[in-house]
Formats: sequence, structure tokens, C-alpha cells
Amino acid sequence: MNLKVAIQSKGRLSEKSLALFRECGIRFENGKGNLKMKATNFPLEVLLLRDDDIPEYVESSVADLGIVGQNVVWEKTDNVQEIKLLGFGKCRLSLAVGKDFDYQSVKDVDGLKIATSYPNILQKFLTKKKVNAKIHEISGSVEIAPGIGLANAVCDIVSTGSTLTLNGLKEVETILKSQAVLIATKNLPTEKQAILDKLTFRLDAVQKAKDNKYILLNAPNDKIDIISEILPGMKSPTIVPLTEEGWSSVHSVVNENEFWDIIEKLRENGAQGILVMPIEKMIL
Ligand code: PRP
Ligand code: ZN
Repeated sequence: MNLKVAIQSKGRLSEKSLALFRECGIRFENGKGNLKMKATNFPLEVLLLRDDDIPEYVESSVADLGIVGQNVVWEKTDNVQEIKLLGFGKCRLSLAVGKDFDYQSVKDVDGLKIATSYPNILQKFLTKKKVNAKIHEISGSVEIAPGIGLANAVCDIVSTGSTLTLNGLKEVETILKSQAVLIATKNLPTEKQAILDKLTFRLDAVQKAKDNKYILLNAPNDKIDIISEILPGMKSPTIVPLTEEGWSSVHSVVNENEFWDIIEKLRENGAQGILVMPIEKMIL
């Protein structure tokens, strides 16, 4: 039995989704060009699809799992499980108008026409804001709609913002923030749930490793106590004596978020020769 995972065939999430499986040690037999790829060392099969179709494939159990932007999931269905945020594909769904539009508040689009591929999310947003606008649904190249006279505003995905700028638009409201998420069909059969548990165990190990760094440093022995407090590590730091009398080497793990603060404190407290290394997998 194989888990069937739908991922984006081309676009922003495509490469990163495959890279994530690779980091989990999962290898595939056939390379690029196929719309279906079977893993050689894990009970998993990848289906390469248009991202907009992925939520429906998962909802109807044609695929057991999917990797797709939360924005697409929320637009298409509320009938799948969100298993795990994946930390890539970060973007926002925003309202944008022409750069010369004198925009003060969302009331300014009242009565206007907004082009979008996200009619459901946009309608909910407008209803909440008590704004009446006409939604014009299109499936791609939304940003050119104002320029060709199809709409007065757009509601679309912004990542770097360069697409908006290139089309003479400015972002005026953020409707939601999104990133890639692993989704699963509801009522996954027990055997498949067991494979999913194995997969999420691996994904957790990869993600934790990305969030942490391995750190090695030298310190005079009379500073070891204070340094151990700064560097808690997974249990406690490893301390190994150096051949040079009165000195030790300290090994530990630090979180990416507090990394620079910790390095500063370590230097203030006599640490020298600090080496920092990436961690490949981390299992607690
Ligand atoms: C979105 C959006 C823009 C682009 C914005 O498309 O429709 O075209 O990204 O990115 P930027 O702010 O970095 O310029 P997406 O990648 O979701 O592709 P799709 O609409 O074809 O699914
Ligand atoms: Zn798409």
C-alpha cells in the first residue's frame, strides 16, 4: 500500500516539496517529466498536479495527502485536515489597486470590480468589511486586469511584490498570510495513517534540525558553569577537557531564533574559538 501525495507540478512550491521528501531520505525512481513518481524506499507515490486542484483531489481521497499553500486550501475546501505547516512558500493574499489610486480604506472599493482567483476568500472579507464590490473570477494573470480595463482592483498572492510593481499596482490590504501546508484526506485508513505517522516523524526531525545549530567552543574551566547555563542543549552541554591545562571544549545545540543573542553572551563570558554547524536531522 502506498500513500498518494499530490504536489504542485510547476511553480513556487514544486521544487521545495520534492526537496522535503529528499531530506526525509525518500528517493524516487523516475525523474522529471512524469506526472506520477514512485518512491523506491518508502511506501509513497507523488502525483504532480496544478496547485489549485490539489485540495479537491485530497478532499475526494483521490490523493491521501497534498502539499499546497494554505491560501489555496482555504479557498477550495474546509473538508481536509491540515497536518503540518511546512515553513516555505510564505506569501500573503492582498488587495491591490493602481499606484495612482487615492486609497484611504477598504470602503474605497465599494461598487468597483475586483479581479481574483480567490472569490470565496475575497467575498468573506468584503462581507466582513460591509463592502459591496463585484468579484470577477479569473484563473491566472490577475495582475493585468486593471491595466486592460477588466477590473479596478485585484486580490492576489503577493510574495516579493515584484509582480504587482511590474504591473503598476500597489498593495493596500493584507487579507491573509499563508505558507505551504501538508494536508490529508479525512478518515484515512489505518494502514495509511501508520505511513503518514512515519512521514511526519521524519518531517519533524528535518524541521527541528533546520531550526537548530550545533555549536562548539572553548572556554576556561572557571567559566564552564556560567556557559552551561547560557547553552542548555538538548539535555545539558557536553564538556570535554582540552589538552591545554585549565580549558575545556563545550558542545551544544542552539535555536536559530536566539542564536545571535547566545553568541554575544558566550563571548562576554570568555568563550573562544566558537564553531557553528548545521544539523541534518534531529530526533529528541
Ligand atoms: C502568485 C501570484 C503572482 C505571483 C506574485 O502566483 O499570482 O503571479 O505569485 O509573486 P511576487 O509577489 O513574488 O511577484 P503563484 O506562484 O501562486 O502561481 P499560480 O497563481 O500560477 O498558482
Ligand atoms: Zn495556481
